[in-house]
Amino acid sequence: METIAVIFGGRSAEHDISIITALSSIIKPLELTKKYRIEPVYIDKNGRWYSDQRLKDIELYTSGNIIDLINKLTPVSLQFDSGLTIVKSSGLAGRKQHIKIDLVFPSMHGTYGEDGSLMGLLDMAGVPYVGCGQAASSLAMNKLTAKQLAEDNGIAVSRYVFTTKLTLEREPARVIKEIKEKLKYPLFIKPTHLGSSIGISRAINDQELVNGLEVAAHYDDQVLIEEEVKNLVEVTLPIIGNDQPIPALLEQPLTKPEDFFDFDAKYLNGGKKGKGSPKGAQGYSQIPANIDQELYKKAEETALKLYKIFGLSGISRVDMLIDQKSKTVYFNEINPLPGGLYAHNWSKAGISNVELVSKLISYAKERFNGRQDLTTSFTTNYLRQF
Ligand SMILES: Nc1ncnc2c1ncn2[C@@H]1O[C@H](COP(=O)(O)OP(=O)(O)O)[C@@H](O)[C@H]1O
Ligand SMILES: [Mg+2]
Repeated sequence: METIAVIFGGRSAEHDISIITALSSIIKPLELTKKYRIEPVYIDKNGRWYSDQRLKDIELYTSGNIIDLINKLTPVSLQFDSGLTIVKSSGLAGRKQHIKIDLVFPSMHGTYGEDGSLMGLLDMAGVPYVGCGQAASSLAMNKLTAKQLAEDNGIAVSRYVFTTKLTLEREPARVIKEIKEKLKYPLFIKPTHLGSSIGISRAINDQELVNGLEVAAHYDDQVLIEEEVKNLVEVTLPIIGNDQPIPALLEQPLTKPEDFFDFDAKYLNGGKKGKGSPKGAQGYSQIPANIDQELYKKAEETALKLYKIFGLSGISRVDMLIDQKSKTVYFNEINPLPGGLYAHNWSKAGISNVELVSKLISYAKERFNGRQDLTTSFTTNYLRQF
């Protein structure tokens, strides 16, 4: 039986969401296949790695008992042995347990995980893993590089200005002048790296702009300021696959405009503040999106094109902002590891949760094997000269 390590938690604002993705959308369906042994790997908020079968129990996290358990456990070690082995202390006087990992299923959202850092580690280990590679993940998770790459490939993006925390501290008046010369209110001010709307604000005047810049610079050393898309319909498209990507259904999150930057509205109230069923990660939405056929097609084509341009693999979700009047599809952002894998959408598109994780595992193996065929060494006489 193959052993799959599911890695979740981590040093990210989306720590808790990643636990739910791991336990309900990944581990549960993987166990239903009866084909794999699951090794849950939980990274706590301080970056300590733990592995124990008890970590698969949701109760542990909802009750807060996780703290007691990890206090009793010893963090694991990783062995890079032309592959990856997890080394656990079994508790019995220094006895070590070695668990060889055949494949990793990352379940990390946000910093230190979805942003490519975990993928780089897994590339170094030489172990196959589900989802996007290191470079694609880090490109996608930086709102500035993502915008630039989309723009360079002829995809519409809202007009923007980029600045840094240091520049803002040194010459705030010049930055504000530049923003006002190049852009028109309302503006969105965003930290370039964070997700889940943390640190994002909307400004309609100079005072709000100044406040927004301060907030964003508090969270990130890079700040993006962009114009608001008018006549807005927001859509998102989950996509799976490697070189032949398969789209799910175009989805329209139904968050009210005033809730756009509200973490609670997105995750705690099922997507619509105070209403909707408390289904968690963006649960309240219209699938398929309620837009005309021509715009639907255009958004789908744009997302599939972006999937290729960014070199995404396995799974991703492409977010777009549509101006319904001018019929322009703007690229907004890419999530290399969408919360809950967007299983609710895939099931409407005819792919069950079990099929979804099985497909993701085969894409991971296909990508890994493809890379193994590449030549990474050649013989030289270089050392003989010494
Ligand atoms: N340029 C824009 N025009 C209109 N709405 C925007 C714009 N940028 C962001 N928003 C709104 O703010 C939300 C959060 O912004 P986004 O860039 O997606 O950040 P996050 O990474 O937090 O999801 C979007 O889902 C959208 O509702
Ligand atoms: Mg977003």
